[in-house]
Amino acid sequence: MNDRRRPFPEPIPRYTANERTNHWLVALSFIAAALSGLALFHPWGFWLTALFGGGQWTRILHPFFGVFMFIVFFLLAFRMWGDNTMDARDREWIRSMRQVVNNREEGVPEVGRFNGGQKLLFWSLIVCMIALLLTGLVMWRPYLAAAFPLGLVRFASLLHAFFALVIICLIIVHIYSGFWVKGAMAAMTRGWVTRGWAYKHHRAWLRDIDERDAR
Ligand code: HEM
Repeated sequence: MNDRRRPFPEPIPRYTANERTNHWLVALSFIAAALSGLALFHPWGFWLTALFGGGQWTRILHPFFGVFMFIVFFLLAFRMWGDNTMDARDREWIRSMRQVVNNREEGVPEVGRFNGGQKLLFWSLIVCMIALLLTGLVMWRPYLAAAFPLGLVRFASLLHAFFALVIICLIIVHIYSGFWVKGAMAAMTRGWVTRGWAYKHHRAWLRDIDERDAR
């Protein structure tokens, strides 16, 4: 690392290179799946097919983007699973969300590696990803759809659109919070955060790291 950009005191590692590569692969595949999906959803999105080589290519590629996104997402999710279990402290944090948003965090419970909002996002993403994969497989012509009754294929396409809408909204909130919390984007690009950042946003996590280092 360039020493002039190294914060003082020692930076705290937050995401490994593998985690960051994995995260940005999920992000890229999400963008590809979302844009190609919106292109197929309604005629007003048809112009987006130009990004994927026209209508037919968009239709062919979209399910493959989705399957790829599902696989890379679960690789990331398994790495982060253990840090996302909800406890009473997280539920209390979620109830205090208004204070957090207003930057009045005194009295709000200390946060581990991820806060209650991030954990809520994590589990909602798991549900959406599974639902999108299952409904997508049921409607995947020409490979799988013929194996299911037409009524089920139609219902699956309704659910697929619903979960796609939910996940797009979740990711918009996720991206907004990534920019809103100063220093969070650097965590996911460079991999480290300052002690001050960890103390302000994830104090229980910082204490765990210090205790581990002291041992
Ligand atoms: C497309 C643009 C995206 C941007 C700019 C972005 C930004 C970020 C940032 C800055 C963090 C670090 C937060 C922290 O450590 O406090 C992060 C973490 C994370 N991101 Fe993304 N992300 C994007 C897309 C996605 C997508 C599509 C997914 C999954 C479908 C995703 C899943 C996650 C998860 C599970 C974490 C770790 C926990 C969390 O912060 O919620 N991200 N992201």
